[in-house]
Amino acid sequence: MSVPIRRFADGNTDRMEIEGSRVLVAGATGGLGRRISRALSDEGARLMLAGRDEESLEALASELDVSHTATFDAMDTEGCAALTSHAARELGGLDALVIAFGTVAFGPEADVEDSVAEHMFQINTLAPIAMLRAAESELEQGGTVAAITAVTAEYPTAGMATYSASKAALSAWLQAMRAEYRRKHVHVLDIRAPHMDTGLAHRALAGTAPRNLPEPFPIDEFVQALVEALRSQAEHLAFDPRTRRLGKG
Ligand SMILES: NC(=O)c1ccc[n+]([C@@H]2O[C@H](COP(=O)([O-])OP(=O)(O)OC[C@H]3O[C@@H](n4cnc5c(N)ncnc54)[C@H](OP(=O)(O)O)[C@@H]3O)[C@@H](O)[C@H]2O)c1
Repeated sequence: MSVPIRRFADGNTDRMEIEGSRVLVAGATGGLGRRISRALSDEGARLMLAGRDEESLEALASELDVSHTATFDAMDTEGCAALTSHAARELGGLDALVIAFGTVAFGPEADVEDSVAEHMFQINTLAPIAMLRAAESELEQGGTVAAITAVTAEYPTAGMATYSASKAALSAWLQAMRAEYRRKHVHVLDIRAPHMDTGLAHRALAGTAPRNLPEPFPIDEFVQALVEALRSQAEHLAFDPRTRRLGKG
């Protein structure tokens, strides 16, 4: 039987002790998810890697020497909610949930079909919310919930209106939930990620990425900043498009 591990050194709730913490990474096989999983694993976190493709999950788990994996589909809201309790059971408790899955679509809104908009809100907004809600009861000893929203949540972007709205909705939910979570000693981290070259744009649900996408931000720098934001219990990690800097606060 696994023994729950305290995640804060000396009871200090200002910093997260990543080594030994039990973390569910949902969307672990994505471009960002796998880099985040590797960084957390390198720091000694005990991970459950969750994704929709079993084969990619198993390959990643063997690469990172992680023994806990789980499949989920973000189209299945109930399955998303069940994932957190499954992770807590397997890991002997849960200290953090990191949500790194999502999808995008491009183009004039007149061309975006209702089914695409529904699909995007399901994956980018409703599925994360279902997981985050369920996590509240699993993070019994306090902890952290973190979700990758996007810079477009703060700076809604033409040609990506539905995507921007789906991310802004999740970001608003995280902000509104902060006080409720805080009462349970759960920190909330909103990661408003900049554009990066992960291939997400080429896997769009619909439309083609505009040619004038900004210069991609370096993924290593982003992942390092994300881990630091987790460690320091920051409330958000945000990108300033004018200075092209990531800042936490
Ligand atoms: N890359 C960027 O420029 C950028 C910028 C801002 C925000 N973000 C956000 O960062 C997150 C990760 O994106 P990424 O760049 O790593 O893109 P990615 O490489 O395409 O990864 C997307 C992840 O979402 C998963 N996913 C998609 N639909 C799913 C479903 N129905 N059920 C379960 N998982 C599903 C994918 O699973 P598979 O591995 O099975 O395909 C993959 O793991 C997304 O929320 C994205 O919006 C990215």
